[in-house]
Amino acid sequence: MRNRELEQTLALIKPDALKNSLTGYVLSQLSEFHTGLIFAGTKVVHVTRMLAEVHYEEHRGKVFYPSLIDYITGCVHYPEEPHRQRVIAIVYQGPDAVKKVREVAGPTNPHAAREQKPGCVRSLGTIVTLKDGTGKEVGERMDNLIHASATDEEAEREIKLWFKPNEIPPFMRAYSTARSEELCYFRDDALLPNYEPDSVCVVAPGDVMWESDLEALRLIQQGRQAPCGLRDVVAKYLLNETTGNC
Ligand code: GTP
Ligand code: MG
Repeated sequence: MRNRELEQTLALIKPDALKNSLTGYVLSQLSEFHTGLIFAGTKVVHVTRMLAEVHYEEHRGKVFYPSLIDYITGCVHYPEEPHRQRVIAIVYQGPDAVKKVREVAGPTNPHAAREQKPGCVRSLGTIVTLKDGTGKEVGERMDNLIHASATDEEAEREIKLWFKPNEIPPFMRAYSTARSEELCYFRDDALLPNYEPDSVCVVAPGDVMWESDLEALRLIQQGRQAPCGLRDVVAKYLLNETTGNC
């Protein structure tokens, strides 16, 4: 990132933090007073399974992956209360944004966090033992309260995954945008050129999009190899559109 002032990172206040009423504490720890960082975007999100799976793509296939998806979608902490299945997504901006939010978060594992960095947010997290149908221990889930992008590259991927450009004030957008001339809808894992029942409009002529998303959509529409999948682009357009995660 050439302009240090524009460095950005994505933080998520996860369902366990919301359940334990730690939102104010986390926001306070991440405030400009403590970190020097400012808000560039924020929203409340009902995390779809699609978004959860794309966000945690690197962990697909691992023992803890299904529980990680259930956790971030709110199915673990609010199985019977869909209206509470949500996270708060925040883009922070400023010099060393990635490093600073990671520092406030602390180590991934809450037990390690308590040992190595008492006082970090994740030192307030928990580890939950996972059992199979017979009661045998098969792994663990780390309920660690917040997410923080680990690198500049991860921050770019994640901010573009969770936020549309127009959810970030124009002078705070860190990545290139372009105005679309296309019209397309999404339903059942496919793009449609026209509206059909239950489809969602991904982009209309005149909409501002991340340039990389627009390019990926064009390649996908032409049946060519794109740098990311269709779900990576459309997931954010389905946020708060669909229900029924659990
Ligand atoms: P995030 O900020 O949530 O991305 O955490 P991280 O960057 O510190 O860790 P990473 O991206 O590797 O993992 C994402 C999430 O998967 C973590 O927050 C944990 O909840 C979970 N996780 C990662 N590694 C393990 C592991 O070895 N065991 C278990 N049970 N969960 C893990
Ligand atoms: Mg991570």
